[in-house]
Amino acid sequence: MDKAEKAATMGAQTDIIIEASAAHMARRGAEIWCQSAQESVGLRGRFALAVSGGSSPRQMHRLLAEEPYLSRLPWDKMHLFWVDERCLPVTHPDSNFGAARKDFLDRVPIVPEHVHPMPGRVPPEQGAVRYEKELKAFFQRTEDPLPCFDLIFLGIGQDGHTASLFPGQASLEEKEKWVVWVKGGNPCVDRLTMTFPVLNLARRTVFLASGRDKAEVLKAVLESPKAQLPAQKVRPSKGSLTWLVDREAALLLSKTEGLYGSLR
Ligand code: 6PG
Repeated sequence: MDKAEKAATMGAQTDIIIEASAAHMARRGAEIWCQSAQESVGLRGRFALAVSGGSSPRQMHRLLAEEPYLSRLPWDKMHLFWVDERCLPVTHPDSNFGAARKDFLDRVPIVPEHVHPMPGRVPPEQGAVRYEKELKAFFQRTEDPLPCFDLIFLGIGQDGHTASLFPGQASLEEKEKWVVWVKGGNPCVDRLTMTFPVLNLARRTVFLASGRDKAEVLKAVLESPKAQLPAQKVRPSKGSLTWLVDREAALLLSKTEGLYGSLR
């Protein structure tokens, strides 16, 4: 599949970066975070992003609290949201916000009022409505009446889910609501998740996938358009889409020459 065919298959503004290891992938992710932040602040005076939970982003998150990223990032102009959250106490090891606090938020000078965890401790239906209101309040204060994030980081499960948008669930077809309550995943708990209408408005979307256990799903998502996996519904309407993966996750991809990042 040549580049043109690949672009057509995966969407015109899609690229794949294959890093040598999860550590290289984390560094590349932190670089993208910095680049997107500097660009957004330069153009709009603020940087609004949404992050995922799970293990894939954690090494990248930990790098943000260290040099050179700690000094490079415009923490005072950064507004941080989550694409999904498990409805658990923040102290629970499976809390996405709890993990982010441990990995970097407790060690960086971000403005506390600019950190927007999903309300996981209220009845989930109310939590979804409350978070949607919080998103509307933020985006209607800026020039974007729609929830147009500058950057969204996503992960992918072995079943092809992303955020907490799981195969076979009605949430995959949600067109109006920006945030919904679902139940599923591992751990199988109540969750709040942003929906595809929001995810697909981002200026830049970056999937992170590392490890051999993601090789099959990555091949399916990138090379089997008919697989109908939730992650394949991430098709940014105007923004760019980057698959940032390591070599193990890219193991089964049919053509990878020219896609290597740090191996260049
Ligand atoms: C969640 C995540 C979820 C995650 C994938 C991949 O809260 O569960 O947002 O979408 O990104 O399940 O998880 P790993 O990175 O742990 O493989």
